[in-house]
Amino acid sequence: MKPNSTYKQLDPLQDHGVLPKRCRGALPPIALLILFILIFLFFFNLRLNPGRCRGAGGDAKACADPCRIVLVESIPEGMSFGAGSAPNPSTFSTWMNLLGSATHSLDIASFYWTLTNEDTHTQEPSATQGEQVLQELLRLSRRGVTVRVAVSRPSAKAPPRDLQALESSGAAVRAVDLPRLTGGVLHTKFWLVDGAHLYVGSANMDWRSLTQVKELGAAVYNCSCLAEDLGKIFEAYWALGVPGASIPVPWPANYSTAFNAETPLELQLNGSAAAVYFSSSPPALCATGRTEDLGALLSVIAAAEAFVDIAVMSYLPTTEFSHPQRFWPAIDDALRRAMVERRVRLRLLVGCWRHSQATMFPFLKSLAAVADNRSHYSVAVRLFMVPASAAQARIPYARVNHNKYMVTEKAAYIGTSNWSGDYFTQTAGSALVVNQTVSAAGTGTGTGTIREQLAAVFERDWSSQYSADIGDTERWQSRCGSH
Ligand SMILES: *[C@@H]1O[C@H](CO)[C@@H](O)[C@H](O)[C@H]1NC(C)=O
Ligand SMILES: *[C@@H]1O[C@H](CO)[C@@H](O)[C@H](O)[C@H]1NC(C)=O
Ligand SMILES: *[C@@H]1O[C@H](CO)[C@@H](O)[C@H](O)[C@H]1NC(C)=O
Ligand SMILES: *[C@@H]1O[C@H](CO)[C@@H](O)[C@H](O)[C@H]1NC(C)=O
Ligand SMILES: *[C@@H]1O[C@H](CO)[C@@H](O)[C@H](O)[C@H]1NC(C)=O
Ligand SMILES: *[C@@H]1O[C@H](CO)[C@@H](O)[C@H](O)[C@H]1NC(C)=O
Repeated sequence: MKPNSTYKQLDPLQDHGVLPKRCRGALPPIALLILFILIFLFFFNLRLNPGRCRGAGGDAKACADPCRIVLVESIPEGMSFGAGSAPNPSTFSTWMNLLGSATHSLDIASFYWTLTNEDTHTQEPSATQGEQVLQELLRLSRRGVTVRVAVSRPSAKAPPRDLQALESSGAAVRAVDLPRLTGGVLHTKFWLVDGAHLYVGSANMDWRSLTQVKELGAAVYNCSCLAEDLGKIFEAYWALGVPGASIPVPWPANYSTAFNAETPLELQLNGSAAAVYFSSSPPALCATGRTEDLGALLSVIAAAEAFVDIAVMSYLPTTEFSHPQRFWPAIDDALRRAMVERRVRLRLLVGCWRHSQATMFPFLKSLAAVADNRSHYSVAVRLFMVPASAAQARIPYARVNHNKYMVTEKAAYIGTSNWSGDYFTQTAGSALVVNQTVSAAGTGTGTGTIREQLAAVFERDWSSQYSADIGDTERWQSRCGSH
């Protein structure tokens, strides 16, 4: 979350409907006809061959791998949630395991790299984990693993020392100039290992993301179908990482996907039935068939009938970085509609720290103010504050809840973007969406589905000592947005 680069002028805003939007690019009628036939064949075959998945070209491919999914968290040093909350595997241990298991390829999509604390010129012992991750990464090429790193164009604030070390170790690094291409940054954070395992979540390639910032993500193992699909998003970044690249319109057919909000990939996650897809932003980076990240988020909200629980670092019905600032109520409208039209219970748990935008708080209060005992509108907003000792408080850009997820009674959405305009219109981000209405309680696994586990993480944080109601100004005001 470190370099807050300034953004260029926004595109004229579109009216964002509830249905997920897909990619642009007009297709000639004959191509449309072929597309219809392919879609028909796709569905027809899906029925004949359950348990298989296929790529966009209709090429059937067995997906016999038993996909496992694991919720992964970084809990900042010094925080504890007391008894009764079983910790999830750490981002650090997950990354080290992924690095240790890599045998032929590792692709990383990243925002910026500061895995050693050279950036802060400190001797912070909690940087050790980041440094270990970097050491392990630097060994991969020699072990015969092809390492590719797509990174947002490095800014002056983030010296590319880690990236230089990676390049001299044999890794291929491409800086994606999204400021020039879309006016945003490459903000996505995901890993792809051996075409079979993946990590996606809020953690940056930053030592603080392992020990000083609260992060949430998911790791998926032995799941080539999903890894292959996420790989297409990586290939898009990779293609844009060559000097002078331009965004193809439309994207070549091999970037397109069959898995999206309308036709998610049906598979078993830890033995429980689930329907899964990856969304991507901004729209210009979506190939045919890819659900836009905003569309994914809105469709998860639109499908909820009981509750929507959101944990996000920043929430603003405006743009954050573009000048002049724009009103951008796409998500706020969808939430209020769910509350009014379907009586959905809303809870927002928003991260707050010194650097929070002051304009965020009045909008959050306005949302919370709709709660009413007589109309029975149900909405609550709490601010999550990561505690800091005097020494920890001196670490720049740390001690914050950087999570970006949503859970409803039907689905889990694990993303990489703040919830404000720029992230969906210009900045590159992506999300894993898991539709899982079935409970794992009956399947004998005992630990619950990923959706149930995510709901449990939300409950833990919501009711913890670290969250304060937005109405309880005394508890949060001096700590939030005071810079
Ligand atoms: C999210 O929002 C915060 C506060 O507005 C901002 O400082 C940060 O750079 C944003 N990006 C990330 C990575 O969360
Ligand atoms: C993935 O599959 C391999 C080989 O079958 C197995 O050894 C490994 O434990 C699996 N990983 C997970 C996380 O289930
Ligand atoms: C599509 O094909 C081109 C040309 O062969 C290749 O460079 C690119 O990586 C491919 N994209 C994907 C998503 O496989
Ligand atoms: C999940 O799948 C069910 C059944 O197919 C569907 O009714 C629902 O709309 C989906 N939910 C989301 C969030 O896409
Ligand atoms: C709703 O009623 C409860 C219990 O009477 C009260 O504590 C709470 O303040 C009321 N909330 C609102 C928003 O009126
Ligand atoms: C799935 O299986 C893995 C490895 O067996 C386990 O660590 C994880 O907690 C399970 N996830 C869910 C959602 O049950």
